[in-house]
Amino acid sequence: MVSEAITRSIYLLLTFSFAGLCAPQALAQANAVAGRALFAEERKGNCSACHKTPTDAPRIGASNIGPPLEAIRQKYPTPADRMRLRDSIRDQSRVNASTIMPPYGKHRILTETEIDDIVAYLETL
Ligand code: HEC
Repeated sequence: MVSEAITRSIYLLLTFSFAGLCAPQALAQANAVAGRALFAEERKGNCSACHKTPTDAPRIGASNIGPPLEAIRQKYPTPADRMRLRDSIRDQSRVNASTIMPPYGKHRILTETEIDDIVAYLETL
């Protein structure tokens, strides 16, 4: 089932990447598609282990460890907010020193590009 989901994500990614050659807007979408896969991928973000995504129905998990992630664009509307959101994924301990959320950028669990992709996905929620 997991490999099926990965295959589907890769297919979507390739489709959007190809579309991205034609339209920059579609390229932005490709990042969100990649981010969505990284969000759930156990060896990458594994964000679903702690966060529900109520507006992305197939990803709703059972975890309440972190807050549900929704209405992210409303919560982080300006470019400065977007940087703040990005930084908090890189290292949430800068926001909350005793957080249990892994410092994805600081510990190089995710690359800078992967963090950008996840931010693009979060903005669709
Ligand atoms: C081990 C559990 C855990 C994992 C895994 C985790 N988080 Fe978190 N996250 C939390 C907790 C707990 C908070 C609440 C704030 C705090 O602890 O500082 C949080 C807060 C957040 C926030 C701020 C929420 C808001 O409403 O502003 C965002 C955004 C976020 N996480 C995104 C992610 C992303 C993206 C990933 C995967 C790359 C991830 N988290 C993985 C536990 C986790």
